[in-house]
Amino acid sequence: MPTTTVNNVAFHYQERGRGVPIVLLHGFPLDSRMWDAQVESLSDRYRVITPDLRGFGGSLPPAPFTVASFADDVHALLKQIGALPCLLGGFSMGGYISLAFARKYPSDLLGLALIDTRSEGDTSAGKENRAKMIRLVDENGTKGVVEEMFPRMLADFTITQRPDVVRRLREIMESQHPQTVKHALVALRDREDYSGDLPSLRVPALIIVGEQDAITPPVLAEGMGKAIRNPTLAVIPRAGHMAPMEQPEEVTLALRRFAEQLAVR
Ligand code: MLT
Repeated sequence: MPTTTVNNVAFHYQERGRGVPIVLLHGFPLDSRMWDAQVESLSDRYRVITPDLRGFGGSLPPAPFTVASFADDVHALLKQIGALPCLLGGFSMGGYISLAFARKYPSDLLGLALIDTRSEGDTSAGKENRAKMIRLVDENGTKGVVEEMFPRMLADFTITQRPDVVRRLREIMESQHPQTVKHALVALRDREDYSGDLPSLRVPALIIVGEQDAITPPVLAEGMGKAIRNPTLAVIPRAGHMAPMEQPEEVTLALRRFAEQLAVR
């Protein structure tokens, strides 16, 4: 896995293939391994780049960050490796970062894919829940947060039929550094509401959501779809929040079709 130092962090990222850059940002508390299936498949025609965000995966050590500073990190990394402009896709927390990127660096985007995510900031109940999760990390480390989140992350189909996906997801989540998990909970709690940016997005947008996503449900995806000009919406059957891992072929196909449309514009 290549490493490059930008903004004082040695960033680990996966990179495979040649062509138009497709950059995929992971969620919380995850890392680039959540995109393994998409890297494998889309790299036949595209240059697929999946960074470990600051403090996650191999991009240690932990250090405080915000959703906006994550967008700056990603931009600096992509600039350094010559991967701009790009098609940027963000899953959940990665989606918040993609919206922050679109606000600050619109001319470096070819298209935006918002995957199992939302544009709103945390509600006051959501902010209280972040405080509870920080206490869980203090008491039980990363595992405390994983136990709290896990029951809401997967569709019934995945839980009953795909023990390999259940195991892999738990492994990726539990491996994240507890200090990073705490920094992320603060960053997620304090993030801005990007809903007001949606009507003025000037690049094509794809919205993907698992049909049974209990964390960022389809109704939120539909809401973003109404605010954005001419989006494409893909609802993924038999998938929950972790649609890219639960139904990788369907998610990859939606991304591939979107990338192909961009190429003919
Ligand atoms: C994620 O999957 O990235 C998180 O659930 C996002 C969040 O907690 O807001």
